[in-house]
Amino acid sequence: MTTTEAGAVGAGERNKFGYRPFDLGELHFWRDEFFVHISWPTGGHVMSIDDFLRALQRDVAWDFFYGIVNFDEVIGTVNHYGTVDLFAGRFNDAYRKAELDHLENFETPLIRETFKSILDDWTNDGFDPFASPVETGSPFGDKSGNNTEAVTRRRVTARRMVGVPGDEELRSDENGHPINRMFADVPQDEPEIEAEPGFEGEVCAYNLFKYLSRSPVTWNPSVVSVCKESLYCPTTEEYILPIIHGNDRVEWFVQLSDQIEWKVEDRDTGALRARVIMKAGDVAAMPSDIRHQGYSPKRSMLLVWENASPELPRLIEAGKAPTNPVDF
Ligand code: PHB
Ligand code: FE
Repeated sequence: MTTTEAGAVGAGERNKFGYRPFDLGELHFWRDEFFVHISWPTGGHVMSIDDFLRALQRDVAWDFFYGIVNFDEVIGTVNHYGTVDLFAGRFNDAYRKAELDHLENFETPLIRETFKSILDDWTNDGFDPFASPVETGSPFGDKSGNNTEAVTRRRVTARRMVGVPGDEELRSDENGHPINRMFADVPQDEPEIEAEPGFEGEVCAYNLFKYLSRSPVTWNPSVVSVCKESLYCPTTEEYILPIIHGNDRVEWFVQLSDQIEWKVEDRDTGALRARVIMKAGDVAAMPSDIRHQGYSPKRSMLLVWENASPELPRLIEAGKAPTNPVDF
């Protein structure tokens, strides 16, 4: 065992494939050419390394997100905003009934630093876990180099709005954001602003479609505007959302272009609840007691609208806020 500067990250000696194993509480993680192997006192699990790294990348970059991040139907995390549960089988009916599920709670900095170390050690040169599978290299094989630049990329989080002076920059060829191959037809003009005299410095606008057409990553909502607790988090999607998100609040989706098919399941058991096909212009409100995973056959634009209020999970648990945002 070694301890890094981050403190108490349990990394072992490199195995014959060149990768370090890691311990976090009673959970043990190691990888070979194709898979991650995870074991805990009552069981074990295997996942393809590409799925695992894509899920881990999002959990790290989003700092454990809202509620539950299921890496698949067995492994995942629950964010308690200060501490994080790491679980195996906790939201899986079969594991629960067999009493084989396992859950451990960690201070956020410990699990954050451990996950960052795993992600960095296990990501080979040329593989970008945020990229569409057709726009990146292979994650498989013996350890070869790293891609620290990609796995530590900064997440866009506007303080007020993208494009406001001093806030997040607009995207352009010049600052390294070319138009994605799938969005070659997206108009690139910017809005004209006609401010009343005296207000010239206070009005701002930008072309969100242009902005999104230049996103190099997939399934990575970025905060482009903030109004108190209301966050607009658009994202560009291609292939499969690498996590199954278990909500702790309501989320609104606005499909801005193309199409995404959502599998919606019961948050706690995984039982299938709905299949939602969203076409350009469709709006959906995801209840707070579900989990969902999206499939996007062509690169598409999705607006995720979040209410970031820290009160919400408690209000919903106490029955003081509804699990459904609208009744029909
Ligand atoms: C979600 O879980 O709501 C989610 C996550 C990432 C995305 C889109 C939606 O890119
Ligand atoms: Fe979600």
